[in-house]
Amino acid sequence: MAEILREKNLFHLRNEHISYVLCEMPGGILAHLYAGPRLSAVNAANLLRHAGVATDHSFSVQECMLDRLPQEYPSYGLGDYREGAVTVAAPDGSRAVDLRLASTEVLEGKPALEGLPATRGGGCATLRLALRDGLTGLEAELCYTIFDDCDAVARSVRLVNGGSAALTVTRAFSLCLDLPDADWELITLSGSWARERDIVRRPLCPGVQGVFSRRGASSHQASPFMALVRPDAGEARGEVIGLSLIYSGSFAARADVSQFGTARLLMGIDDADFAWRLEPGEAFQAPEAVMVFSEEGLGGMSRQFHRLWNARLLPERWARRPRPVLLNSWEAAYFDFDADKLVSIAEAAAKAGVELFVMDDGWFGHRDDDTTSLGDWFTDRRKLPDGLKSLGDRVRALGLQFGIWMEPEMISPESELYRAHPDWCLHIPGREGITSRHQFVLDMGREDVQAYVCEAVTRTLRESGAAYLKWDMNRNITNIGSAALPPERQGEVLHRYILGLYAVMGRLTEAFPEVLFEGCAGGGGRFDAGILAYMPQFWCSDNTDALCRCRIQYATSLVFPPSTMGSHVSAVPNHQTGRVTPMESRFAVALGGCFGYELDPRQLTEADRAAMREQIAMANRTQALRLNGTFYRLLSPFEGNDTAWMTVSEDRTEALVTVVRALAQPNVMPPLVKLAGLDAGRRYRDVATGEIYGGDELMKVGLCCPLSQCDAASAMIELKAVDEA
Ligand code: DGJ
Repeated sequence: MAEILREKNLFHLRNEHISYVLCEMPGGILAHLYAGPRLSAVNAANLLRHAGVATDHSFSVQECMLDRLPQEYPSYGLGDYREGAVTVAAPDGSRAVDLRLASTEVLEGKPALEGLPATRGGGCATLRLALRDGLTGLEAELCYTIFDDCDAVARSVRLVNGGSAALTVTRAFSLCLDLPDADWELITLSGSWARERDIVRRPLCPGVQGVFSRRGASSHQASPFMALVRPDAGEARGEVIGLSLIYSGSFAARADVSQFGTARLLMGIDDADFAWRLEPGEAFQAPEAVMVFSEEGLGGMSRQFHRLWNARLLPERWARRPRPVLLNSWEAAYFDFDADKLVSIAEAAAKAGVELFVMDDGWFGHRDDDTTSLGDWFTDRRKLPDGLKSLGDRVRALGLQFGIWMEPEMISPESELYRAHPDWCLHIPGREGITSRHQFVLDMGREDVQAYVCEAVTRTLRESGAAYLKWDMNRNITNIGSAALPPERQGEVLHRYILGLYAVMGRLTEAFPEVLFEGCAGGGGRFDAGILAYMPQFWCSDNTDALCRCRIQYATSLVFPPSTMGSHVSAVPNHQTGRVTPMESRFAVALGGCFGYELDPRQLTEADRAAMREQIAMANRTQALRLNGTFYRLLSPFEGNDTAWMTVSEDRTEALVTVVRALAQPNVMPPLVKLAGLDAGRRYRDVATGEIYGGDELMKVGLCCPLSQCDAASAMIELKAVDEA
């Protein structure tokens, strides 16, 4: 049970496994005392003595004492020389803020965040602290929620101008976590288009380190995630702190190691191009950040994140619902199709057992390549002479659901929409706009643009009767200027873009609860917890090569569960790498996420089409286990030639194990993979061979997985418990 204990000036948030402790110092400064495994009791003086700070009346902010004090929401300029969490320009131009505790409140449940996605409440307790800066009247409302069922604390910050003159917020991070030592290693995810999310691990060192995105999207290049792990911590054991920001725009995640060897972690909206004007009475809500604590290594951290997102973030109606096996037309046809070609692909797909056919890019305006038509969301009658409804009906007549692709946030300079509304894209008057993939970005902060996007998507969904929408976004933001905002508010453009995006996504997903929305951004360029609050799955990468996907999906699973990762079997030679991998391995890897195909089934051999039928049967048979089970990483592609993972059902009676060996080698042994998460006292049967193993044997000794002698060889083993617990 989550509880919040209050003893004099000390606040102790805890559940069965974790504790988070803070206290009010004399004068009202908020000190951070502890975050980690559950504590029975806390002596504030003991913890602060370590920082060299007195807790009695002799504590003072004079003499730069703040530079030693572990704090909850520090600012720069009043004696703390580390990275601050908040900076606000006062009417006189000065930028220091001195926030002191004004009031406290313990709430059952969890308040929603205005305009921003956040974890859902229920079975949790929230501590709300109101802080105030006497000079400017700035108020900061800090919320901390601890959950019954997850070893996580969710944090958010709301700034209110309680003064009588305008203020400008230039930094409003969501999280600050001061740790008493820096004996940690930092893990972040870095990448690029088609190479999303490589795991990068390095020791913390003095100074500032971290990752950021200034692309207006969480990006391919970085993820709004950071983990600190003890040097001896690994996948299955050791102390880990994981941080994730529920936000889809530019972000910063930093660790600042001080002169005293302490570490400060910060996370929030990137402040390089951010300035938010607060008129008296106005409020600014910063996104929610989540901190997860595990003593069971990175695996434990990931399982906490997965549980939290599955139970409290993904749209409730989709979180545990089976997802249809889909076939997407992109790699089958690119822009080169007409209605008959699509129907013939869909027909072959239906025969193989596919359940949903998705028409990707190229169906609207005059779009034969990527140079035109974004924004012109009306059917290209040259390709689909009878319109969207007719195509949808023809696909449905084959027994398939119909799905469609859109890129609603974009506008091609070569489009009717641009000719009618040149002001609707982000731009700086007098400067030539910079295109990327030949397109500009709509100013999603504008209400007229939001209304247009909602209308276009609504019309497309209604007309086509689509049961699925792939929401793509294929470029990062430049030309950061909005015709709808006055000069003093141009620093708000990027965040207003994200607020507008969330408003539109919220409206549309509410209006079409039965439509399955899949996020996409040139593959996994905006795969973050913000989008997942609206769309339960995200296209993991434009790279569909099975070996590359082993890395991408393995690293993505640090934060996100398989139920969120769009993952498809594609043709060989692979369109991104030219590599030829066995069909069974492409299947094994695609089954690690929301399963589908990205190929033309008419081009497959008869044997591969037959394999497809068996694959789909297996995908459906194992779907509940794969999407709702507990996920364990077993062998890392970042550390060796083999990758392995498994999912175990909640009652531990079923498991699915997958092993992939990247390069074949002569004269080596097959992988012996130590499994995890099983019931040690039970016996398990290999469904394919009938062989019986002990649960403890599988976890302590391992499962021998013989593989074919070829590159990208794989094995999948379904296990079922054979006796009572
Ligand atoms: C990028 C996506 O990631 C692809 O899957 C495809 O939808 C293209 N855009 C279409 O332009």
